Amino acid sequence: MKTVLVTGGAGFIGANFVRFLLKAESAVNIINLDALTYAGSLENLKDLPESDRYTFIQGDICDFGQVNGIFQRYPIDTVVHFAAETHVDRSILGPAQFIKTNIMGTFTLLEVSRLYWLRRWPHDSSIAHGRSASPEQVRGKSAWLVNKTLPVDKARFHHVSTDEVYGSLRPDEPAFSEQSPYAPNSPYAASKASSDHLVRAYGHTYGLPVTITNCSNNYGPYQFPEKLVPLVILNALEGKPLPVYGDGQQIRDWLYVEDHCEAILRVLFKGKVGETYNIGGNNQPTNLEVIQTVCTILDERRPSSPYVPHNQLIHYVNDRPGHDRRYAMDTSKIKRELGWQPRHSLNAGLAKTVAWYLDHPEWVEAIRKRGDYQTWIKQNYEQRGESL
Ligand code: NAD
Ligand code: DAU
Repeated sequence: MKTVLVTGGAGFIGANFVRFLLKAESAVNIINLDALTYAGSLENLKDLPESDRYTFIQGDICDFGQVNGIFQRYPIDTVVHFAAETHVDRSILGPAQFIKTNIMGTFTLLEVSRLYWLRRWPHDSSIAHGRSASPEQVRGKSAWLVNKTLPVDKARFHHVSTDEVYGSLRPDEPAFSEQSPYAPNSPYAASKASSDHLVRAYGHTYGLPVTITNCSNNYGPYQFPEKLVPLVILNALEGKPLPVYGDGQQIRDWLYVEDHCEAILRVLFKGKVGETYNIGGNNQPTNLEVIQTVCTILDERRPSSPYVPHNQLIHYVNDRPGHDRRYAMDTSKIKRELGWQPRHSLNAGLAKTVAWYLDHPEWVEAIRKRGDYQTWIKQNYEQRGESL
């Protein structure tokens, strides 16, 4: 039986992953640690079947005492780390929280994992201050090793990261591979890049058994409607403008969230320790094409809506500062080594996603009536002004 600490499991991808893991693996206990920030909600896990294999803990990944307490109480052998501040636009307006959560939070999780999983490096302040410890000191400090029975080759720290760490591609450049240099452009991307480096360093220096995945844009059920796809679906249903940043010709690689969950599971069980794997949907639409596709699906699903054709609602607004022009992921490594590839085409995934939002008005209502959502919409769009 594995005991998996999922961080950020009340957010979009985390909640999908918790469901996916509970269904796919019967020999797994899940501890879900989530601070329930504006982006996380227990609404995302409401209909989870009652199970003694699942425990939710509200808490902050930056809180060493709390994370330490969880490792003390449960025999955690696997960490799947989703918790983060994730919205690029919010990172532009207020970067401080991104630095704290994404860098310090990851650091805290790494430190506690190191403390419980590794025998070689006791949590010794003389080492932290650069003085080497004698073997006696090391032996004397071995009491910290609570989780004595866990062989390190059974442990895994999996870090969920983003394609944005690689920066922006020109139209003629090949897709990002695992060898592409890091060149993050937004405070969000820089904070994720920083956390990736910390994870890698803990693997290299301490031998912590780490893996990293860098994934492209996800979409699907339970995505908070500040992100492009759910925002467009919900605005279109109400006849509100569909805001296109700049000229709408920015290119992303879109992946249906369930495919991402499957890829993470594949890396957890089959991936090689110390490795990074790129994950993506193998498509290259412009933002405008994505919005047009959502509008066409809605025209078909809601033919009697007064807003048909929904693309009449498209509205160009001023661009995001520093907006990356193009992302593309080369996913040949994960396909070759672990046999993973996405199951959903973009059209099929978007059709499923639109259907899910139409079928879950109670979820939409609960999420959107929160004051912080309304405040964000005002803050991001009211002052934005029009472009083109
Ligand atoms: P999200 O914003 O929907 O959810 C983030 C979750 O983390 C929320 O439940 C929130 O409450 C929780 N959280 C935030 N700060 C916390 C803290 N200090 N302690 C504990 N929990 C905290 O994010 P998402 O879209 O589900 O993304 C999950 C992960 O995947 C992130 O690490 C993100 O960088 C990465 N990622 C996302 C995408 C995407 O398209 N959404 C693509 C690639 C990678
Ligand atoms: O690439 C992976 C990343 O995808 C993840 O690491 C991030 O956590 C996730 O939020 C997402 O970042 P993006 O900035 O790409 O997502 P967003 O949905 O905000 O925007 C997608 C594209 O659509 C982007 O080019 C900006 C554009 N956009 C977005 C919004 C909200 C618009 O044109 N109009 C909008 O109103």
